[in-house]
Amino acid sequence: MKIIVSSAFGTEASVKRELEKLGIEKPKAFSGKFVVEGDFELLMKLCIWLRCADRVFIELAEFKASTFDELYENTSQIDFSKFLKKYTKVYLDGSCSASKLMAIKACGGVIKKAIMNSLENAYNITSETGELVVIYFSIVNDWCKILIDACGDGLHKRGYRAITYSAPLKETLACSLIDLSIYSPKKLLCDPFCGSGTIAIEAAMIARNIAPGLKRHFDFEKLVPFSKPTFEKLKREATCLENDIIPKIFASDISEEAILLARENAKKAGVEKYIEFKQLDMRDFYLEEEYGVLICNPPYGDRLSTKDEVKKIYSDFGKVFSSLKNWSCYVLTDCKDLEKLFKRKADKKRKLFNAKIECTYYTFLGKKPEK
Ligand SMILES: C[S@@+](CC[C@H](N)C(=O)[O-])C[C@H]1O[C@@H](n2cnc3c(N)ncnc32)[C@H](O)[C@@H]1O
Repeated sequence: MKIIVSSAFGTEASVKRELEKLGIEKPKAFSGKFVVEGDFELLMKLCIWLRCADRVFIELAEFKASTFDELYENTSQIDFSKFLKKYTKVYLDGSCSASKLMAIKACGGVIKKAIMNSLENAYNITSETGELVVIYFSIVNDWCKILIDACGDGLHKRGYRAITYSAPLKETLACSLIDLSIYSPKKLLCDPFCGSGTIAIEAAMIARNIAPGLKRHFDFEKLVPFSKPTFEKLKREATCLENDIIPKIFASDISEEAILLARENAKKAGVEKYIEFKQLDMRDFYLEEEYGVLICNPPYGDRLSTKDEVKKIYSDFGKVFSSLKNWSCYVLTDCKDLEKLFKRKADKKRKLFNAKIECTYYTFLGKKPEK
């Protein structure tokens, strides 16, 4: 089976690292997508374990499609009954670019007709009364790919964050921010703008090696090759891999409501006891520890506060950071002037997107601890 793992812009290196950790050799990305060869068990394992990736798909076929006839004929060659059950309700989603076929809705209609035909031939029935499965198509340069969405909800939905404070980070992006930092479970990690607690919670899950997909369902459970005993076995194996490391994580926010929500989310994720939450204005943030790592995404001017307020927050945060002598600090923000406001040059800057907002992930490295 051809399994496609998609990643958000700028997070490819993190997804590559986690694929390698799961035993995939030399994964390569093409336009943010990794192709992995494997069976259904591997597909389930990836969905359970991937922290930074966006989605997982099964690629059913790829072919030339420069006319509707070609699109219909080639889609009809696919045996959809290998994956779709008798009464499956099929939802088509897709994109077209730089091709003769550019009408997404019309292409979706043609593909759906071919799928229903294939299912009718296999099952002698056309009723769509069963569970919903999303089929994706992409037509680029007259070349069509047909995929099944194996996740349903994106992989960022871990199942612990029913409630969010304003402008939460996607859990997958929070994991990439942690992966792109020098954080390791032995270090102290702090998020002084924690909001719903996403960074702290994901860091605790990483430290404890808690698989992110244990508490949710996936669309692959609706497909023909799905085996519940194998899925349960993979989840049991994943649970056994949790370690007994006690991470040091501190998360604070000026809002009492945010702290209450963050604590509730951490409880649902099973990591409440590894995070110290506190209602605190970042200006009062101080810890005695000689070394620590700050990872945060402070308010953005266009979403939560006015530009001037935000500038003031950033320059005050710069002062707080400079009082923490050997600490490192990572900031995800859309602010272009952060270095000026921090009065310090960043050691690294990466372009990342937070909910379609172009952001910079600034790295300010502290002194390395002496051996
Ligand atoms: C962009 S949100 C952080 C979202 C968070 N990463 C999450 O995933 O939910 C920014 C947060 O900064 C908090 N904040 C604003 N001013 C603050 C200050 N002076 N001190 C501490 N927190 C502050 C807001 O209450 C808000 O929760």
